[in-house]
Parts: sequence; C-alpha cells; structure tokens
Amino acid sequence: MADLLLGQVLSFVGDPFVDGPAAARHIADGAVLVSAGKIVAVGEAAALRAAHPQARRHDYGRALISAGFIDAHAHYPQTAIIASWGKRLIDWLNHYTFPEEMRFSDPAYAAKIAGRYLDLVTAQGTTTVASYCTIHPGSVEAFFAAARSRGMRAYAGKTCMDRNAPAGLCDTAQSAYDESKALIAKWHGTDRLSYVITPRFSPTSTPGQLQALGALWAEYPDCLMQTHLCEQPDEIAWVHALFPQARDYLDTYESTGLLREGAVFGHAIHLTPRERARLIEAGASLVHCPTSNTFIGSGLFDMGLATQVRVGLATDTGGGSSFSMLRTMAAAYEVAQLRHQSLHPAQLWWLATVGSARALRAESQIGNIAPGLEADLVVVDLASTPAIEQATRRAETLWQALFPTIMMGDDRAIRSVWLGGKPSVRA
Ligand code: GUN
Ligand code: ZN
Repeated sequence: MADLLLGQVLSFVGDPFVDGPAAARHIADGAVLVSAGKIVAVGEAAALRAAHPQARRHDYGRALISAGFIDAHAHYPQTAIIASWGKRLIDWLNHYTFPEEMRFSDPAYAAKIAGRYLDLVTAQGTTTVASYCTIHPGSVEAFFAAARSRGMRAYAGKTCMDRNAPAGLCDTAQSAYDESKALIAKWHGTDRLSYVITPRFSPTSTPGQLQALGALWAEYPDCLMQTHLCEQPDEIAWVHALFPQARDYLDTYESTGLLREGAVFGHAIHLTPRERARLIEAGASLVHCPTSNTFIGSGLFDMGLATQVRVGLATDTGGGSSFSMLRTMAAAYEVAQLRHQSLHPAQLWWLATVGSARALRAESQIGNIAPGLEADLVVVDLASTPAIEQATRRAETLWQALFPTIMMGDDRAIRSVWLGGKPSVRA
C-alpha cells in the first residue's frame, strides 16, 4: 500500500550555489507519495489526496518534509571517543583514535558500536552515511550488516594503513588489496550498500600501498575512493617529509591512481593553487567537515569551491563534535562567516542533502524529493524547542522559519525518519 506524507515539502530543482534560493521548491501544503521504497509523486496536498484516496496518510501538520540528511564523511568506530579533549590532529589520532580503533579486532565490539552509531545518526535525521571503518575486515562486515538490517543506503570501506600506526592497526600493501577486494566481492552492490576503497591518508600508507589501492580502484571503477587531504599544516609538512618526490599532498594520490571522478577527499582546507586546479579538472569531490575543523583546530574551508567542484557536508565524527547534520549546517554557516561568506539556508540544506549525494555520485538515487528517487525522508519540526519556536514567530518566509532550526536544532527537531519507504523513527 502507498503512503502519503502531508506537510510542508522542501526539495531542490537547481543548485543554490548557482541559482540562489530559487533553486529550492517549497510547497506549503504539500504531500509526498511513497510506494515500494520509492518516491512516486510530490505536489500539492489537495491534489495528491484526491488522486490517491487509498493511500495511508501521515499528517505532519506544519512540519517540514525533506530528503534525509547525507553525512558524506564519518568514522563510525570513533563513536565512543567523540568529544575527546585537548589534541590536534596527529596527537588526537595517536592518543584517542588508534587505541579505540584497536578494539575493533573484536567483531562483537564492532557490531555493538555499528548499531549504536546508526541508531544515533538516524535519530538525528541522517539516512545515509559514508563511513570509514578500521583496518579489520570485521569492522566493515559489522557496519554493512547493521545498515542492511535498518534498510539504509550506506557507503563504507576498510581503512588501510601500513605505516605510522600501532602494529595492531597495520596491514600491508598486499593484504590491504586482498581484504578490500574480498569485501567488494561480498558487499558492493548488495541491497543498498556500496564499498568505498579507503586509504586512511598518505601519512599512514606507503607509496606501495597507495599504488595497490589505485590498482584495485582501476579494477572496480564504479566504487568510490575516500581519503583525507590537506586537513592541518603539520600533517601537510609530514606528507612532504614522507613523500619527497611528490609535488604536493594531492600528488601522493594523483601519482598512485587515486585522483579522478569518484575520489572523495575529506577536509581539503589548505590547498595549493595546483591542488585546487587539479581537483577541479579531475572532477573529484570534496567534503566539508566544519565541526571537526573547528574542534581539532584545522582551519576554515573555502566554500567558494562549491561552484567549481562537488562539495558535500559531513560530521567527521569523532573528529567532529556532533552526530547532527543540523549542528553541522550551523557550523558550516559559522565557518563561512569567518571567511566573510554568508551561506543562505537554502545552500546549507542543499549541502546536507543534494550536495552530499552529488559528492557520493548518488544524486540519481538519494538526496532530494522527486519521483523515482528512493524514499529516504526526514520530517522536521520547525518549533521543536521554546527558544526556536519564539524565534520563528515573526517568520514570513520558509527561510526565516527554517534558519533557527538550522542554528539551534537537534534531535528534538526530528519528528520522523523514513528509510527506503519505511518509517524508522517516530512515524
Ligand atoms: N586524518 C587521518 N585520519 C583521520 C581521522 O580519523 N579523522 C580526521 N579528522 N582526520 C584524519
Ligand atoms: Zn575523517
């Protein structure tokens, strides 16, 4: 039986970084018809009610129905160490992250954290995640199994490292290749799951490992490849010391077959002019992780890139300090303000939905409300707390009504979540 969701509906017919807020389509008394996991129709409530009298109705009143949020870069194994105090990137990895990731040699622990993580993010309105796992193939198995049982579209890969990490967290060029390949064979394209080839970042891979993963990517060109790029100045200096032949940080990936469309680079803050030009030319994707960039002290991403490359938005938990894409939109706004760029609410919402879908090359499946797309939806209460409610009372436009929720909203604003056409949270 079909389901008819009634409320305000927000979708996008263009790119707000190109077309401005007119890229958004807002239907104040709207409806979304869902059947067999897909969006079948979107339009005026009165028309869809009349055309589909049999459909099961879900009346969300003045709440806003949107595509679910897409977190384009996260580390689910860092769930338990989110909000760890006082370190910058390299020390943070050594002090907090690597010891926690060692625990994922235990498949039971991996399964426990994968379930906990997906429950936490679903409650925040996130319907798809691209996650790093750990070195252990079992960490990927746990994540995919948990996503599959929830009906989620999910992206993940074994995080490969063969140097500059504890022995218990190191593989080799060959085992990284072999284990990643076996995981691709088992999981890539199964249900709603996609494998992502995942070298952690150049400091923890030898050139030989990067080359092996570049060769693997050439064998499976429709996989994505995800890694980190130009996050902190100390990290970049370390890359120069480890790869003396490389022209720059990006060249360590470019020279090993890891730069082309489908490459998804987290952070990309401190880019040289050559790196910017090559990323644009190659059609790569960048993922902005603003709560991480302020929490670990990395720097201010240049959102001017959004008109030149695919840019997605992400929490980067646990380097990021929140599981919430609303909080992440707020941080993106704040970071842009510090660069004298004021992001419009349409741009923030687009980044967390269509933008992230495009960064993962999944825009024909998820990230928007349009017939034929998968029915991953979030229903957002625009008056979820007294502070937000009072700030919206004089709102005359959708954007004035929505911006206080972007800046101050949390999981209390998430009224309902639909995954693959099925209600997941508080339907
Ligand atoms: N660079 C390499 N690994 C990581 C990680 O786990 N988190 C962040 N923020 N940056 C990284
Ligand atoms: Zn990361």
